[in-house]
Amino acid sequence: MTSPTTALLAIEDLSIHFGGLAALSRVSLDLHPGEVVGVIGPNGAGKTTLFNAISGVVAGQGKFSIDGQSRNWPKPHELMEHGIARTLQGVGLFPDLTVLENVMIGATKFAEGGLIRSALGLDSRQEARLRERSMIALENVYAAGLANRTVSSLPYPVTKRIAIARALVSNPRILLLDEPAGGLGAQDIEWMIKFIHNISAQCAVLLVEHHMDVVMTVCDRLYVLNFGEVIASGTVDHVRNDPAVISAYLGADA
Ligand SMILES: Nc1ncnc2c1ncn2[C@@H]1O[C@H](COP(=O)(O)OP(=O)(O)OP(=O)(O)O)[C@@H](O)[C@H]1O
Ligand SMILES: [Mg+2]
Repeated sequence: MTSPTTALLAIEDLSIHFGGLAALSRVSLDLHPGEVVGVIGPNGAGKTTLFNAISGVVAGQGKFSIDGQSRNWPKPHELMEHGIARTLQGVGLFPDLTVLENVMIGATKFAEGGLIRSALGLDSRQEARLRERSMIALENVYAAGLANRTVSSLPYPVTKRIAIARALVSNPRILLLDEPAGGLGAQDIEWMIKFIHNISAQCAVLLVEHHMDVVMTVCDRLYVLNFGEVIASGTVDHVRNDPAVISAYLGADA
């Protein structure tokens, strides 16, 4: 069900080519406040490429708007001012840094070159504020007690939560989660479902996920990508029964 509010994020006719490969073809989607919108599809369908385009990591053709205002596609260092944060497929943390340091990096402007340089540019009050925000982000994922642990010493499911804290520290209005349940067992998946549901009160979520139980439980609407094209969109029930979706998944043995 599409909300009557102005879309926080809207993409129209996005196409991205890698050489001769059409990774995305005329993809349009929108995300409204309070929504969890799923982007699903077989391996290689273009889901991460979509996130990369929204994050300014790859360039394509198409229209981009925030709050109903047409904008240039963001560059990576502009994400925070657009209120966008993402997690990476996998984890993407610095294994030799502490949990807190990893989360603090999420609040520094990417263009300014990471923690070390940013830390040099911060006065002690700014650094204290950043620490405090990072601790709040860690509390959000129930990991504040792990702040001083080195990331490499933690089990994989915990690192997935830290990666989310790193995205949350910039107080995004739009959170892009790329396979947050990937590699998790049943208990951690259960936690992730509840977490995504709760966090959507703070920020709208665009969710890429292969675990259908997560998608079907937590998403308000879905877009289904196959070979770079949106082959279906709408409510979970609508999409679940769409013959094109069933055939895309069966064809991919998913
Ligand atoms: N930087 C790149 N250069 C060339 N090809 C790329 C690049 N990034 C992605 N691709 C290709 O674009 C297509 C879409 O890839 P993408 O990673 O977006 O798929 P996905 O839907 O996220 O898949 P998965 O579910 O396996 O993560 C694939 O064929 C992939 O090999
Ligand atoms: Mg992917």
